[in-house]
Amino acid sequence: MGSWLDNAIFYEVYPQSFKDTNADGIGDLPGIIEKLDYIRELGCNALWLNPCFDSPLQDGGYDISDYYTVHPRYGTNTDLRRLFREAHRRDMHVILDLVPGHTSDQHPWFRASCRGEENPYTKRYVWTQDKTQCFDLKRPGGDQSSNIRSFILGVGERDGLCAVNYYTCQPCLNYGFEVVSAPYQSATDSPEAIATREAIQDVMRFWLRMGCDGFRVDMAGSLVKNDPDGMGNVKLWRKFRAFLDAEFPQAVMISEWGRPDLSLLAGFHMDFLLHNGPSHYLDLFRVERPYFSRSGGDFSEFLAVYRRNLELTAGKGLICIPTGDHDMVRMAGKLDQEELKIAYAFLLTMPGAPFLYYGDEIGMRWVEGLTSKEGSRSLRAGSRTPMQWDDDVNDGFSDARPDRLYLPLDPDPDRPRVRAQMETEGSLWREVRRLIRLRLNNEPLQSGARVEFLFAEKNAYPLVYRRTGETGSVLVVLNPLGQDVECTCSLPELGEVLYSNHGAAAVRDGRLSVPRASATIFRCATGGI
Ligand code: NOJ
Ligand code: CA
Repeated sequence: MGSWLDNAIFYEVYPQSFKDTNADGIGDLPGIIEKLDYIRELGCNALWLNPCFDSPLQDGGYDISDYYTVHPRYGTNTDLRRLFREAHRRDMHVILDLVPGHTSDQHPWFRASCRGEENPYTKRYVWTQDKTQCFDLKRPGGDQSSNIRSFILGVGERDGLCAVNYYTCQPCLNYGFEVVSAPYQSATDSPEAIATREAIQDVMRFWLRMGCDGFRVDMAGSLVKNDPDGMGNVKLWRKFRAFLDAEFPQAVMISEWGRPDLSLLAGFHMDFLLHNGPSHYLDLFRVERPYFSRSGGDFSEFLAVYRRNLELTAGKGLICIPTGDHDMVRMAGKLDQEELKIAYAFLLTMPGAPFLYYGDEIGMRWVEGLTSKEGSRSLRAGSRTPMQWDDDVNDGFSDARPDRLYLPLDPDPDRPRVRAQMETEGSLWREVRRLIRLRLNNEPLQSGARVEFLFAEKNAYPLVYRRTGETGSVLVVLNPLGQDVECTCSLPELGEVLYSNHGAAAVRDGRLSVPRASATIFRCATGGI
């Protein structure tokens, strides 16, 4: 798209766990502002903030009760405006989390919608009088295609059931049904469906005017119900895009959808590769035997899905592969610091914008055994612990009493910390920074350049792929395995080594010979194969 996004490297900040500046134990916006220089020094040039809006916090803030107001525990709207300004001053961009599919059940729209008498919000959510709908959904042969998870019953003055999108505290906003099959279902062009879209456009307009650069969109494929081939949601997002093109053409949109074939068609610039569903993302870093571990695993099933998505998107590959996020276990734990370096060589040389989850740059671990915090369940809690900055009190996260921290710190005395890693040659942090710089300085490594896999066999190593952009090609050769390997594949003529870690791969007697646990990136000599 010829914008900052072509060259963006995102850093995801979970605001409550990043940096606390007023000793209440909870990370806040002034804390993020204070750490912008740190994020810039690592090389990231864009931020994704998880929701920081008013909320009863039953799903970590994905249950919004006021889209227009920063939750007081993070600061004020003025702090958020200052964050946009300070980021821009450093040539960085900020995207917010847009949660358009549901609100909190405490949102005034939902409260009004629960009232007995008819009012402008009566149809703002998906309600039905028909109890059998609710039970039919889960029954074998019942309506599975509606993408409604379940219904809540018995809330408010109103008879009937309200559909929920995720947790039971998150009622579905009503964008209509693509296939209308029951009287309770609104059409996608009904006044109530249009009113919902316009209400969310108002929210977008508010933050974009204040200086935000775009949105990561939560559950983007979930808005229109009964949408068997996804085209109802595509049409809806094209309307959102038309609104943006008219008023904020620069606004960047990245979807949590996991269907780049649909989301790019819908007008999103990029889509996330999801860890759940068919992607096989977990095979790479998180299963019992991950591909990026020394003992070896398999890449081929991941690749089959990835290639299919490339084909479906005319080779665009605008699929963002995250290091992790607030919803999944961290990769450190399954992978040690050396293994992580090879994993990063992959993550930072693939198409689509890379997303680094806070703390992954030092290999923060998933913390076991935590109880659910604000709806996190123990799985997510373990990846949401405070950032480990230095060896000061609470690792520099907060001056609060340790038992007041949002979540406890990783109790491991050897836990990694930012300051120590920044000072240590060869640390994971330094390696991540080196790879980021390489990407920023070489267009063929950036988001839009094509990727071709030259050697990626089942249960085999190395992994070899070429990236080709407008200014040339580079070859990436990765061998996470604990032993040297060789392969024969059709290679371009190799030029200078741009990057190597643990020894460089080389061509010997027509075979590519690759040292154990190594990553090598070559510039391809002009001409190609
Ligand atoms: C995806 C978010 O990443 C997750 O944290 C949240 O619970 C659900 N969407 C519901 O909004
Ligand atoms: Ca605070």
